[in-house]
Amino acid sequence: MSADMQDRLMVALDVADHSGALALRDALGDSVGWFKIGLRLFVAEGPALVRSISEQHKVFLDLKFHDIPNTVAQAVDSAGGLGVDMLNVHAGGGPDMLAAAARAARDFPDMKLIAVTVLTSDSMPKERAAELALERARMACDAGLAGVVCSVWEAAAIKQACGEDFMTVTPGIRWGDQDVQDQKRIADPASAVQSGSDYLVVGRPIIQASDPKSAALEALAMMRATISA
Ligand code: C5P
Repeated sequence: MSADMQDRLMVALDVADHSGALALRDALGDSVGWFKIGLRLFVAEGPALVRSISEQHKVFLDLKFHDIPNTVAQAVDSAGGLGVDMLNVHAGGGPDMLAAAARAARDFPDMKLIAVTVLTSDSMPKERAAELALERARMACDAGLAGVVCSVWEAAAIKQACGEDFMTVTPGIRWGDQDVQDQKRIADPASAVQSGSDYLVVGRPIIQASDPKSAALEALAMMRATISA
């Protein structure tokens, strides 16, 4: 994937409320192309916040739907109505759930539907995570989803199995001496790009930095260095 790196960096708006989210958006400006809205912010602020952020940026709604097929399909339909650019479900819901979600997403051709494989915070052995992530990626691909959330460690094998166009979105990004926190399968921005990750999700290393914009620019510089090297 060769889009400019700022269109491949997704900043997780894991903040408490609307004002915190808008403050971060304004601090980061156009240095990043995407914001990810997850459970904390969506539960607090709901669709209105999604619409505000969508005005200037692409939005990945990260709610990891995991329920019976009918319920998930209906939730995908509701999320599609919000006009988000990317949405996820959890592949742990199985092939029927993934197929129902993919069918519902067909009404929203501009929205990419992807599946979480194995959380980057899961403490299972890396080899087991790699096997399970690949198995779930194949399931998502067969069900007609556009890609998966996985760790950088699994991205290359998933691309090999499911094709270059099957998107890999990778959280668990850390660099320098940053605190790993609850993440387990981590990698730095350069390794992520080199492993074929299409989108890098970064939360705390940017949003909790004393200067979020500098932290974002630092990540972008590491991503860009991989193509100029
Ligand atoms: O702060 P940090 O960079 O660890 O944030 C990672 C973000 O990516 C969080 O919002 C988390 O919910 C999300 N995420 C993840 N692992 C997944 C899917 C989503 O860490 N498999």
